[in-house]
Amino acid sequence: MIKILVFLFLTPSLSLSQTLTFPENFQWCVATASHQIEGNNKDSDWWEFERRPGTIKHNDKSIKATDHWNRLEEDTQILVDLGVKSYRFSLEWAKIEPREGQWNKDALEHYKKEILLLKKNNINPMVTLHHFSLPLWFAKKGGWANKQAPQYFQKYVTKVYNHLGDLGVSSWATFNEPTWNLISGYVTGEFPPGKKDIKLLKDPLKGVILSHGLAYKTLHQLAKDRPIKVGLVQNLNVFIPLRWWNPLDHYAKSILDNVYNWSILNTIKNGHFKVNFPTAFKDDSPMPQLKKTLDFLGINYYTRQFIKFMFSPPFIKAQTIAPKEKITEMGWEIYPKGIYTMVKKAHQTFPRLPIFITENGIGDKTDKKRPQFIKEHLSYIHKLLQERIPILGYCYWTLIDNFEWAHGYKPRFGLYNLDLKTLKRTPRNSAKVYSEIIKNNGFFYDKTKALFE
Ligand code: NOJ
Repeated sequence: MIKILVFLFLTPSLSLSQTLTFPENFQWCVATASHQIEGNNKDSDWWEFERRPGTIKHNDKSIKATDHWNRLEEDTQILVDLGVKSYRFSLEWAKIEPREGQWNKDALEHYKKEILLLKKNNINPMVTLHHFSLPLWFAKKGGWANKQAPQYFQKYVTKVYNHLGDLGVSSWATFNEPTWNLISGYVTGEFPPGKKDIKLLKDPLKGVILSHGLAYKTLHQLAKDRPIKVGLVQNLNVFIPLRWWNPLDHYAKSILDNVYNWSILNTIKNGHFKVNFPTAFKDDSPMPQLKKTLDFLGINYYTRQFIKFMFSPPFIKAQTIAPKEKITEMGWEIYPKGIYTMVKKAHQTFPRLPIFITENGIGDKTDKKRPQFIKEHLSYIHKLLQERIPILGYCYWTLIDNFEWAHGYKPRFGLYNLDLKTLKRTPRNSAKVYSEIIKNNGFFYDKTKALFE
């Protein structure tokens, strides 16, 4: 009898605290983006945008950023110290093609050097071709809203691949968080071009999707027999109707969910672009060429938001509701379970497609929440892996504190602290925690001690 009682008492706690071990080849990774770290991105639309009054908090400007451009060796060493298996970074179109049709060979050589350095250190380079910033000349032509956008992007992608394609980069992402980028640029006005009109969203959204499709085909044609994987990185947010009893909130939530989370992925799945944003635009266009244009799906996951219907444009309001302890420097709720929910949904949409968690991170200068943030998200990834969902790896966002777009330099997402004056990088405690996780290919996790459930 006593034995049975002891057994009953111990069993639940055994499953609540355990060592979580990850698959042998799990790709531990960190992610960065060129404009946020390299510095001197003078020919980009962001450089111009940062100089418009009131666009960036505290009037910050990217300027030298972390000066990564001149610190390739130092930053590669940090990656080696962390022990990451993969490094996700982006190429800067504005540096590679600063003026239409003029290619900067030095910039391409620079990226070649970066890739070779990574390879020499046994770090697998994961390249993103577009991470928010654009060449200013292209932005002036309307950017993604330009009918020729897919062709402009194709020229850039071709140039890049012809120069870097033989270096053994196997993972190429066409776009990073395209819906977030476009909604910020055309609806909330927080990103260039700084417009605030939902109606303007349709053209660039279609432009990005078509550009992805053409880039996917182009890369595979150029690669011929090289085994490259081409994908896209989508941010997935959990959206919840604010008032469960209010059908209008449910309605607003479903529209946002469709446009923000799924518009691009559904187009790829169905070969059909179908978006209905009442009062703004409606579109129903066959795009059969988009079918089967994903070899992997990159998912960036950060937070959950509560959605309220409003009676004036833009009709949808997203807000955060959470106690202070669960809020990050960005004002986002820490909600680890959401990574489980959203990856699962993506997996249901694309049942056999490999998934990579291409970003997950927290703005937390004090570093008090970060270690637990990482562990709790990883515990859900572990659960997904146990359910046989093919997740190839996890990138923490980000390596070093950097230029956080419209928020400037205040939010601190880095495993490494950046001294803004000296640009010295110093590991935070979480850098140690993450590198231990990597070294052990897992960690001991006590669910009863979870802070963010
Ligand atoms: C996702 C974006 O890809 C990245 O550029 C940004 O810094 C992080 N979110 C944090 O906001």
